[in-house]
Amino acid sequence: MFHTIIFNHRISRVFRERRNDQKKVYSKEIGGIRTAQFKVQQVSKVYEGISPVVTLKNINLQFEDCEFICILGPSGCGKSTLLELLAGLQKPTSGHIFIDSEEVIGPNEKLGVVFQDASLYPWRTIFQNVGIGLEFAGYKRAATKLNVEKYLKLVGLDQFAENYPHQLSGGMRQRAGIARALVSSPEVLLMDEPFGAVDHSTRLKLQDDLLEIWEKEKKTVIFVTHDVSEAVYLADRVVLLSARPGEVLEIFKITVPRPRRRNDLLLLNAQNKIYSAIYQVSSEENLEYNI
Ligand SMILES: Nc1ncnc2c1ncn2[C@@H]1O[C@H](COP(=O)(O)OP(=O)(O)OP(=O)(O)O)[C@@H](O)[C@H]1O
Ligand SMILES: [Mg+2]
Repeated sequence: MFHTIIFNHRISRVFRERRNDQKKVYSKEIGGIRTAQFKVQQVSKVYEGISPVVTLKNINLQFEDCEFICILGPSGCGKSTLLELLAGLQKPTSGHIFIDSEEVIGPNEKLGVVFQDASLYPWRTIFQNVGIGLEFAGYKRAATKLNVEKYLKLVGLDQFAENYPHQLSGGMRQRAGIARALVSSPEVLLMDEPFGAVDHSTRLKLQDDLLEIWEKEKKTVIFVTHDVSEAVYLADRVVLLSARPGEVLEIFKITVPRPRRRNDLLLLNAQNKIYSAIYQVSSEENLEYNI
């Protein structure tokens, strides 16, 4: 529930900004393949307060068009903070973030965000939830319908358009959250442990669904997880963060050809390399990683 309130607050802010810029939004075509490059330069984040929390320290990263990046790190190391900085929902204390050489200074229509909790409005149908961004941005009903239907089909929920969130399983709600993020045709999909709340087999299925969507839609995906096997299965590159303050410990290139098999020895080798790097760092928080 807490996540829902925060998320609703965040998307209200995004929609307010979008409404202020309606002319631009109206003239924009929905759909089509659109990707973007991200650059993170010397970014640090300190949460001020009685005892300030240094959360991220000197992060330098570059994400390429259509890349699938996983951000891996122990609980509390600043993964969600990094994602919120990328999404423009927070400002770095120092450093800069650029998307296609334009500095990120607030929520941006090039970005679609999926949180751990699907955060759907319980009183709206799945169709209405998925279409909410287009509705608030002032798209015509016919255009909204066309796009919502397209993405509901893509995530396998076309038969559930008129259902309410409580009538869906956890995995189906997560799919609806993904469809909602995709429907405005963002260039980058930012995902914060989106499959954390579902059971193991649903999680595996959602990973495969996401890869299929990524291959069809050609998005840049930045996916936060603390599950090493999930990271190596999904990513082109895995960014390993240290315990707080989160710093980039190492970046692993996963060159295993796609489609991948979970029991592929090359994939298991990649997983072992990451575990070795994790075990080299002495912190109790390492126990957070799943096998
Ligand atoms: N709004 C905030 N104000 C103050 N401190 C915050 C705030 N948000 C996060 N923090 C602190 O920053 C640190 C990193 O939090 P963050 O949520 O980014 O971690 P995380 O890596 O996503 O953890 P998890 O894996 O548990 O989700 C934590 O110590 C947290 O207490
Ligand atoms: Mg988090």
